[in-house]
Amino acid sequence: MAYADWPVDETPKKLPDLSAAPRATQPRKRRPRYAGKYPRGFEQKYKEHDPERFGDTITKVLESGKTPAGMHRPIMVDEVLAALAPRPGEVAVDCTLGYGGHARALLPRLAPGGRLVGLDQDPMELPKAEGRFRAAGFGLEVFTPYRGNFAGLAQVLAGLGLCGVDLILADLGVSAMQLDDPKRGFSFKYDGPLDMRMNPGRGRSASALLESIAPGELVDLLVQNADEPFATLLGPALAGRGFATTGALVAKIHAVLSRINREEVALSVRRTFQALRIAVNDEFSVLDALLRQVPACLNPGGRAAILTFHSGEDRRVKKAFASGLREGLYSEIAPEVTRPTAAERQANPRATSAKLRWARRVGPSHQDAAGPALG
Ligand SMILES: C[S@@+](CC[C@H](N)C(=O)[O-])C[C@H]1O[C@@H](n2cnc3c(N)ncnc32)[C@H](O)[C@@H]1O
Repeated sequence: MAYADWPVDETPKKLPDLSAAPRATQPRKRRPRYAGKYPRGFEQKYKEHDPERFGDTITKVLESGKTPAGMHRPIMVDEVLAALAPRPGEVAVDCTLGYGGHARALLPRLAPGGRLVGLDQDPMELPKAEGRFRAAGFGLEVFTPYRGNFAGLAQVLAGLGLCGVDLILADLGVSAMQLDDPKRGFSFKYDGPLDMRMNPGRGRSASALLESIAPGELVDLLVQNADEPFATLLGPALAGRGFATTGALVAKIHAVLSRINREEVALSVRRTFQALRIAVNDEFSVLDALLRQVPACLNPGGRAAILTFHSGEDRRVKKAFASGLREGLYSEIAPEVTRPTAAERQANPRATSAKLRWARRVGPSHQDAAGPALG
């Protein structure tokens, strides 16, 4: 689908202004019941879902290298800030707002006078993120949440009356909130409906995809999206069948690959889930659409930074930035990829496969063009 065909889901005006809602009027949630001494399920981890009240629990979970339930740890924040070099008065768009970690780091650096648009296609997580920003004191004049797909970035910005922005950030893939919530059906680790849609209101679930796909098509999908070495065994066995749950799919992969050693099978399960997620969310097409629009959406001198998590994504970013440089759209691009430090990989294993690339639009930024500040 061409990017122009991607409908922009909703204008920010339709999102509730959670800053106006006093805490006391919000209904108290019942603590979910759990068996045993400690809560184990995503929903049961009530302390992790309430970081303001249970800060010490959050600290302990983070120190153990895990991500608290309902949170996302932003990756390579210092490196992203170095690449984007945000300055007071600039306008930024975070194409993948998620929990808002990167946006929270950017916003103070855009003040005074700057502004950030936080785009995300997830209708469940975006209002929660907006609530956190409002509670932290970021008003409508500095932070604008927007529900939509970044494939329609130019249209989103035009709708907000912005003909260009100074900074564009995209941190690709799924958030920990999506991955860890069994109800979203992204993870092979937890049993839940086999869905995998970042925006459950659009497109078809992974279960529906498997039910309708032809065996040969599934083989191609597994190879193209995840380099799956057992694609020719898995394609015919999984295509055209109904798998209602993530657990049922995992069990079938184990059954099909019963003669293969367990470690290899575990990798195949991981890769099959990745391949399906990419297909369900059309991740390569929307990334291509975003990359085509980045130069035109950046003001002169503007910077873009993109975090990728697998080779299919990084290849596209590398190629698009290199051809933008050749065509004279960018004045400079990252000479090589930046990876997380060993310390970050140890503290947050989910950062391990991250790669960062950046590009700078030709021309002086409006701040440079204004000349040195007087006084
Ligand atoms: C890795 S998380 C971003 C985390 C974020 N940087 C933070 O610090 O919390 C990716 C987010 O991007 C969103 N997303 C992924 N693809 C998208 C797309 N094509 N358009 C809009 N949002 C997208 C997902 O819903 C998810 O919330």
